[in-house]
Amino acid sequence: MLPVLMQRCLTLTFARHSRLLLRHKFATVHCQQTAAMSSLLINQPKYSWLKELGLSEDNHGVYNGSWVGSGEVVTSYCPANNEPIARVTQATLAEYEETVQKTKEAWKVWADIPAPKRGEIVRQIGDALRKKIKVLGSLVSLEMGKIYVEGVGEVQEYVDICDYAVGLSRMIGGPILPSERPGHALIEQWNPVGLVGVITAFNFPVAVYGWNNALALTCGNVCLWKGAPTTPLTSVAVTKIVAEVLEANNLPGAICSMTCGGADIGTAMAKDERVDLLSFTGSTHVGKMVGMMVQERFGRKLLELGGNNAIIVFEDADLNLVVPSAVFASVGTAGQRCTTTRRLILHESVHDTVVERVAKAYKQVRIGDPWDPSTLYGPLHTKQAVEQYQSAIEQAKQQGGTVVCGGKKMDRPGNYVEPTIITGLAHDAPIVHTETFVPILYVLKFKTEEEAFALNNEVKQGLSSSIFTKDMGRVFRWLGPKGSDCGIVNVNIPTSGAEIGGAFGGEKHTGGGRESGSDSWKQYMRRSTCTINYSKDLPLAQGIKFE
Ligand code: UN1
Repeated sequence: MLPVLMQRCLTLTFARHSRLLLRHKFATVHCQQTAAMSSLLINQPKYSWLKELGLSEDNHGVYNGSWVGSGEVVTSYCPANNEPIARVTQATLAEYEETVQKTKEAWKVWADIPAPKRGEIVRQIGDALRKKIKVLGSLVSLEMGKIYVEGVGEVQEYVDICDYAVGLSRMIGGPILPSERPGHALIEQWNPVGLVGVITAFNFPVAVYGWNNALALTCGNVCLWKGAPTTPLTSVAVTKIVAEVLEANNLPGAICSMTCGGADIGTAMAKDERVDLLSFTGSTHVGKMVGMMVQERFGRKLLELGGNNAIIVFEDADLNLVVPSAVFASVGTAGQRCTTTRRLILHESVHDTVVERVAKAYKQVRIGDPWDPSTLYGPLHTKQAVEQYQSAIEQAKQQGGTVVCGGKKMDRPGNYVEPTIITGLAHDAPIVHTETFVPILYVLKFKTEEEAFALNNEVKQGLSSSIFTKDMGRVFRWLGPKGSDCGIVNVNIPTSGAEIGGAFGGEKHTGGGRESGSDSWKQYMRRSTCTINYSKDLPLAQGIKFE
């Protein structure tokens, strides 16, 4: 995952390069002037639906029970045409400070509410999202650039995790374990950690916050969210929906606070001891810096970082499943999912056929405006991403790759590039081991199962992986200790498009965190092992006599 702007911003802060920061500030001011009020998309009748989300030309980028914001003004641009949509005023550090204080205060109220009653509030948030699912999905499409059905799909993920969390609100609990001491009870008690900071990336500007928010709330935590600096309108729109539910229930709005911002706010959250858990989704590069800052203060972190996901196709695979899976997972969301398939590892006996069929399917992918219902493939999120795409293709060629399909920036407004397939690279070519957050698929060849599993596991990242086979023995070897080392291990389905019911995340440089389903809720709570003596004696464990 690569929130480009954030990565740049964080790098700037870490370098403490004030001159560059100043230049960044000027750039923002320049953007402000060029994005004159009349040219904003929000003022055009075609986009008047944005107002249904409570958005206007200028939006406050801070919510802590009140809407404020007096920091840098950022203009949000539509990736499909690079036109300005509307503006958001980010948080200053003083506003961050005030927001943390209010969020901590709000916890005192929220933590006292019984979990099933908290679940009821989360249920209402899910219902409020259901009512706005189309319009919010349209905003995601307009601001992030993904196609409309995928925009709606990620709001659906938030709705689904709310449903999940409502059920969870009546199931959170720990076991009562047998004590070795007579007249003693050994009980596991789970309590909320307190304040959960959530930093999300541009590519899933709704769902990833949703996974964190619904679980964190149900577990009795309050949230402070910083979305990506390039999708601030989505952050504001989601927070408005959530805030309305809280306010209608006479609860402090600061239970779900938001501070839009760049590296300064991200760094403040990472260093802030009052942020009891920091959930960060983004690149491995930035995630490492964030993780180290949190570790420095012995804080808790949940990292969901880069992937370098492979589909492995064995000789017995059903190619009618392989082809659409490879296309969906490598071309979908224009290659900007952390679960995107970046490596297609083919048995030598099917290599040429699969390349030919996938390349043919690539040429039929309908490219267009992301909000057009017939479009399957939209733009990259930013101009910088287009440059990264071009640079990766050059490097791949230099390292021995052959472009079979695509390879060029497209001649149309917006950040469009051709979905690309590259064959002939060595499995360990540096570019193959790099997660470039764009639609480039590297095709590799193998002979044996052992070799294929080794290729899957040889990259630093460990997020998602799939094999296509009908061999049951192979399926279980793939799932077992010598199989895939990823957090997501699939058979006969793509690497992307996970359901919310399972734990989501990966190993190694992917960061190790788990969000969403299964027992991920445990990451949002602290466990107390409680031993209670209800006898009149004081027996010691391990049979120790201390007399
Ligand atoms: C991400 O790209 O950060 O599995 C999340 C998937 C989606 C979530 C992706 N459900 O592709």
